Amino acid sequence: MTFQVLCYIKRMKKQDIIKNNTINNESDFNLKLEDETLYLVKESENSSICVDFTSSKALKRINEPGILKQDICKAIGFNKSKDLTILDATAGLGRDSLIFASITTKSVTMLERNPTSFALLENGLVRLVKADDNSQLQEISKKLSLNNIDAAEFLASTTDKFDVIYLDPMFSQEGQKKSAKVKKEMAFFHQTVGNDEDSDKLIDLALNKANKRVVVKRHIKAPYLNDKKPSLEFKGKTNRFDVYIIN
Ligand SMILES: C[S@@+](CC[C@H](N)C(=O)[O-])C[C@H]1O[C@@H](n2cnc3c(N)ncnc32)[C@H](O)[C@@H]1O
Repeated sequence: MTFQVLCYIKRMKKQDIIKNNTINNESDFNLKLEDETLYLVKESENSSICVDFTSSKALKRINEPGILKQDICKAIGFNKSKDLTILDATAGLGRDSLIFASITTKSVTMLERNPTSFALLENGLVRLVKADDNSQLQEISKKLSLNNIDAAEFLASTTDKFDVIYLDPMFSQEGQKKSAKVKKEMAFFHQTVGNDEDSDKLIDLALNKANKRVVVKRHIKAPYLNDKKPSLEFKGKTNRFDVYIIN
């Protein structure tokens, strides 16, 4: 059993049942460690998810020729500068952070408060660091860091400022009309994380700690965070990026 899984187990609640390398929290989900990869398994559907920054899918995503033209990159402002310190305050499974770290020349700090998402992410990072046969992934791993903390707590107490702060909290209607593959990941968030009902408070805290902009990823039907109108919006079919420019 690896160090990060042992750390995770220490954080588990008393009623959790731990058998071999499997953590059963008496729900339909189990955490399972296999060949150094931590999986969250949904027993009833015999499906699982893990964080794999080294997968062919992840590599394809970060090497897409038109990546800088995608809304997420335009919203971050990569068309203006690639020298950005980025705080991904709701890191989830780290998919967006991986894109940021593949483009910025500076750092990407990830925050995740949910212990299950955090454990999956931490395990993904450990395996990324070991991927020393790929120089692109090595460079990316040097830029990424991760904290198990609530973003509100972090933003209220940190003395650091970040060029861009990115927020992607859950919204109740997410995942309703998505493909089976996307649904699997969204179902994970719904069933382990729930809806991030307290996310409105993050926008003002983030605006205080950003040098250039705050970017909020929202479901297309979701209201603005705390009803605050952004400076710019990039609208896709199912998502929207609300951009708050700091003057
Ligand atoms: C929709 S997911 C983010 C997906 C992520 N952008 C990705 O690329 O995988 C939302 C995540 O934000 C986390 N989260 C929500 N509010 C948070 C907060 N205040 N502090 C830290 N994490 C938070 C949730 O636990 C969840 O894992």
